Amino acid sequence: MDRFHILGPTPLVGRVRASGAKNAALPALAASLLTDEPVTLHRVPRVRDLRTMCRLLDYLGVGSEEREAPAPGLPDFADPELPADPEGSQSTQSPESSRSTKSTEGSKSGASPEAVAEAVLVLRRSRPSSGADAPYELVKTMRASVLVLGPLLARYGFARVSLPGGCAIGVRPIDQHLKGLAALGADVRLAGGYVETRASRLTGARFRFDLPTVTGTENLLLAACLARGTTVLENCAREPEVADLARLLNAMGARISGAGGDTVVVDGVDGLGGAVHRVIPDRIEGGTYLIGAAITGGDVLLEQANAADLAPLLDKLAEVGVEIEVSPAGIRARVRAGDGSLRARDVATAPHPGFPTDLQAQYMALMTRAAGTSTIRETVFENRFQHVSELARMGARVHVDGRSARVDGPTELTGAAVMATDLRASACLVLAGVAAAGTTVVDRIYHLDRGYEGMELKLQGLGAHVARVTESMAT
Ligand code: EPZ
Repeated sequence: MDRFHILGPTPLVGRVRASGAKNAALPALAASLLTDEPVTLHRVPRVRDLRTMCRLLDYLGVGSEEREAPAPGLPDFADPELPADPEGSQSTQSPESSRSTKSTEGSKSGASPEAVAEAVLVLRRSRPSSGADAPYELVKTMRASVLVLGPLLARYGFARVSLPGGCAIGVRPIDQHLKGLAALGADVRLAGGYVETRASRLTGARFRFDLPTVTGTENLLLAACLARGTTVLENCAREPEVADLARLLNAMGARISGAGGDTVVVDGVDGLGGAVHRVIPDRIEGGTYLIGAAITGGDVLLEQANAADLAPLLDKLAEVGVEIEVSPAGIRARVRAGDGSLRARDVATAPHPGFPTDLQAQYMALMTRAAGTSTIRETVFENRFQHVSELARMGARVHVDGRSARVDGPTELTGAAVMATDLRASACLVLAGVAAAGTTVVDRIYHLDRGYEGMELKLQGLGAHVARVTESMAT
């Protein structure tokens, strides 16, 4: 299993480029099921979740071909050698250890922001559809697989998709997805851990979500595109990733208006074509590096990011005392050396444009370094404080009470062995490790690989001492 070995404390200094957004690329890939023509996506992040979606699409008859040369040190999508899960790690013998290990620290000289080159993915139906069935084996590894439900049903009149089940951060039901599809006339049944949906052709209708759901809104957009008539969706998720999907679908010939707002109108069309689309930058990945600058007392320029999408975070960082500068060159976050005046500020997560739940854990790590007491309320997911006990191993003082956590600071974090439990919790622990005195070993980094492209390379490019250690299970 891969681990990160981090030696701190190190101020993060330099420039880093935002990758494409995982949570925009995933629905964009699912959109390729709506047409037989090629869909070309630029700036697709090379992360595990995208590879999982490619495998699911391949199973459903849509092939994916990467156009750009693979970036040095990063696996590409079609790398057959890439193990499906962490147990199948690679290893090479190294002189100093009896056990076979591989470290990326050596490639520090090659680590620069450009090292993580953009991927272009061409998605094209490779064989006639053999049914619209997404098996448990593929869906269980990634909840976002549910995004094939809407397009398969809309395109083929039938879709059978394994229920995603819960995950580390919450129960995460899909009732709103199913209620929405039923409102468009689908016959929806649950059987044997699967949801089966049928509709000779979906029919436009008015549907109001009980609560804003990101993938729920995306699934309904994907389905309503090919429905007969007009669909009006209310209380939609307003995340930038939803608006990005609508941009792609409109480029494919759909007629969607209002995406990014809470009411979206979709005039159904009879068919969709191909398109070329550039995925938006990842505001969560980018936000993670800006928080990295703040927690380490550094100075980071985030390139190719969208400041408007990051506004909830930038406003909060400014409140905390981080200097934020937005210019054509990018978004700069810095803490003046020796300033030491990070102020503790409360935050409550909320659907966009509220403070993103996907930055809550990273923000908590920052609050351990701020002067005073802050309260962090997690209103989106019911179980998203699993990083607290790991941060406590590094000396953090955090008290959890239900969906609120009280953080007392400032605390001098010290390096320790910690365990990642989910994607964003692992990013929080990595940032804490870069800020902490001594060595931190973050285990189960496969969580991080789900959504961060070449994180150790990007951190090395900012001066961090971080190495990925791949340990073969063989010895
Ligand atoms: C998306 O998940 C993101 N994933 C998540 O990012 C993100 O945390 C989340 O939105 C919130 O911003 C992708 O886009 C692939 P929701 P999603 O449906 O769509 C409840 C990451 O780290 N709900 O907006 O699954 C649900 O339980 C991941 O990249 C229902 O009750 O989230 C939650 O409490 C983690 N019924 C709330 O709504 C439903 O049918 C918001 O969930 C759907 C959701």
